[in-house]
Amino acid sequence: MRRERNVAASMLVCQCNVITDNEIRQIILGLLKEDPWRIIVPALVYSELNKRCKCAGCVPNVVDIILAVTEEYHLQMTEKPAEPYPVHARLSAMRRKRPGGRNERRSTGHRAA
Ligand code: FES
Repeated sequence: MRRERNVAASMLVCQCNVITDNEIRQIILGLLKEDPWRIIVPALVYSELNKRCKCAGCVPNVVDIILAVTEEYHLQMTEKPAEPYPVHARLSAMRRKRPGGRNERRSTGHRAA
């Protein structure tokens, strides 16, 4: 008999504490509902689960899940995704406006040792 593949099946993320990705997602979503701009770190997730990180082998995966869930949550918060902020253009404009150029108050004959 062929087994149906469950698409929504949980994936074991932390072998030491037997924590699945669904449990981690639920914790993150709960934290984001309390405060959408809260900075969530793996230690907070373990604390909410009343577990302790033992070998830390799962931490990179937990960080990936935190980033993905937080990004998805923030995208859902806005009706339309925000335009990317033009950081490079703004910094370039600020550099051009800065008096004194790039010499950092050194004389033109200054040489670093
Ligand atoms: S795999 Fe998560 S603490 Fe070891």
